[in-house]
Amino acid sequence: MTDGILGLRPMTSTTYAARRSQLETYFDRTAVEAWARLTSDAPVSRIRATVRAGRDAMRAELLSWLPADLTGRRLLDAGCGTGALAVEAARRGAAVVAIDVSPTLVGLARERTAGLGLAGRLDFRVGDMLDPGTGTFDHVVAMDSLIHYRCPDIVRALAALAERTGESLLFTVAPRTALLTAMHAAGRLFPRGDRAPAIEPVGEGALRRRLAGEPRLREFRVARTRRVNSGFYLSNALELRRPRAGRP
Ligand SMILES: C[S@@+](CC[C@H](N)C(=O)[O-])C[C@H]1O[C@@H](n2cnc3c(N)ncnc32)[C@H](O)[C@@H]1O
Repeated sequence: MTDGILGLRPMTSTTYAARRSQLETYFDRTAVEAWARLTSDAPVSRIRATVRAGRDAMRAELLSWLPADLTGRRLLDAGCGTGALAVEAARRGAAVVAIDVSPTLVGLARERTAGLGLAGRLDFRVGDMLDPGTGTFDHVVAMDSLIHYRCPDIVRALAALAERTGESLLFTVAPRTALLTAMHAAGRLFPRGDRAPAIEPVGEGALRRRLAGEPRLREFRVARTRRVNSGFYLSNALELRRPRAGRP
């Protein structure tokens, strides 16, 4: 990446910005109703039910990687969608900033959480997950929000977030498997009209090499990984953790 004006390194690339803009259109307009339904309890097709089950399993897995008691901790839900993970983290005591580029999904998240008595701990915002204005965090979770970005952009985004993260960064990527490639070619996850912008499958070896080569991530280690596969849902979770004295 080249240096920008004043010798400052631009935080994001043009491919990141272009993809974010496509995702905003997709999640805010094209598929907003399908996404609202998928993230609710309303009945969905058999295929989408496998996606819902997989996403529930992934959310539970990521939440299990966080301390049971999050009181006093700040957590960023990066690309929060309708806010399911943010709610669980707030219930466990975290002060959560939940940000998404889709104003409609953030509006829905605010509506769905209004009566839960968590208002003091849930701060929903519309914007880019990399906005430094959200502050610093103990934990950052990006569940299925980086899966549409290219591997170099994923690593740059993680590096930017790491500069404001004290303890752990949890994220998911779409694994590079023959099955996933075939499923995406078949394009059956959503009907043509509300199909997502391409998911970018990421090879684990290439991802680990890039993570290891990124100077802003030198204090972080890949602490664990977990693949969740449920029908049409397939996603790999990774934890990047800052090792502390006395802790691996
Ligand atoms: C597949 S959804 C997942 C939403 C949520 N994390 C969940 O698991 O329910 C991806 C979300 O990431 C958001 N997103 C993608 N790129 C983003 C960015 N650069 N900044 C903020 N949100 C972003 C999209 O608008 C969308 O709501």
